Amino acid sequence: MNEINDLHLGILEDISNAETIDELEKIRITSLGKKGSITKNFKEIGKFDLLKKREYAERLNLIKKEIINLIDKKKIHLKNIDINKRLIEEKIDVSLPSKKNIIGRIHPLSRTIEEIIAIYNDMGFKIAEGPDIETDFYNFTALNIPEDHPARQEHDTFYLNPDKSGERPVLRTHTSPVQIRTMMVQDPPIRIIVPGRTYRSDHDATHSPMFHQCEGLVIGENINMGHLKGCLIDFCRAFFGIDNLPVRFRPSYFPFTEPSAEVDIGCKKTKDGLLIGEGDDWLEILGSGMVNPKVLSNCGYNPEKIQGFAFGMGIERLAMLKYNIPDLRTFYESDLRWLRHYGFLPIDIPSRHFGIN
Ligand code: PHE
Repeated sequence: MNEINDLHLGILEDISNAETIDELEKIRITSLGKKGSITKNFKEIGKFDLLKKREYAERLNLIKKEIINLIDKKKIHLKNIDINKRLIEEKIDVSLPSKKNIIGRIHPLSRTIEEIIAIYNDMGFKIAEGPDIETDFYNFTALNIPEDHPARQEHDTFYLNPDKSGERPVLRTHTSPVQIRTMMVQDPPIRIIVPGRTYRSDHDATHSPMFHQCEGLVIGENINMGHLKGCLIDFCRAFFGIDNLPVRFRPSYFPFTEPSAEVDIGCKKTKDGLLIGEGDDWLEILGSGMVNPKVLSNCGYNPEKIQGFAFGMGIERLAMLKYNIPDLRTFYESDLRWLRHYGFLPIDIPSRHFGIN
């Protein structure tokens, strides 16, 4: 019995000394667990005679209850201490200055691409894509720009090292190769736009070796120049947000369209910059035309039955005009001050309903 007394007192002392819930849990296991010290004593009850057996069992049961009780109470006590400690430590000092919340900006180029896509999506155009590294065939030949054609020189092409067949791949000089790629695998009707990167060996305030274009292609039966004009006039007016923006079609030349037209918008050139939609000046903003029958045949279409129109626009140029950005090179300098000035808060992302009249 003395042994039990010592054991009992020892456990009570351990409980009172415990400082963590883990320690309490250990005490519970070493005393009342399967191989615990009190449990062991329960197993020895059989040794005693009947009278003692009962007395001993009662005693052990009382001790067991007391241990469980004390451990539970101590656990609650320790938890309260912990909560109080945290309440003091984690107190918010409302007098401290707040942290600066810096919101990123959307690059004007991304914003302009979003706007262009939104407008053409509303007109039922789907987005198509193609590779930046092109073959001579898709970038030139299939677009009716043969080897000796002067347009090849005009494009200031970047050539890559020849591949196994000896052919030199090119960095696409325009997004027009995606016209060919689409027509070769798809039957009319087709209505796509192709926003993407293009490359020419040119670098100054209005040219960059890498820049972006957005191609457009509409193919079907009975497509005519009236469709081209309506589509591009609507686009220009929606993009610049000016309902009566003057738009002019000026005869031009591209090997892959016939007839071809460049599209100008009305503006006023002042000493402080351009005023779009006012005055008597004109500004070229995109190239267009009816797809050349030779290009249609190159893609396996019968030009007697199928017609279409195409257009191509420089995205940086449109962004510079709309948002008054004077130098093209700044688009790629990653200067945060520039981005904060010309960039857009995410909340400004244009909706799909961009207001086309
Ligand atoms: N690909 C032409 C260019 O880069 C633009 C264009 C596209 C013109 C489609 C007419 C039709 O200059």
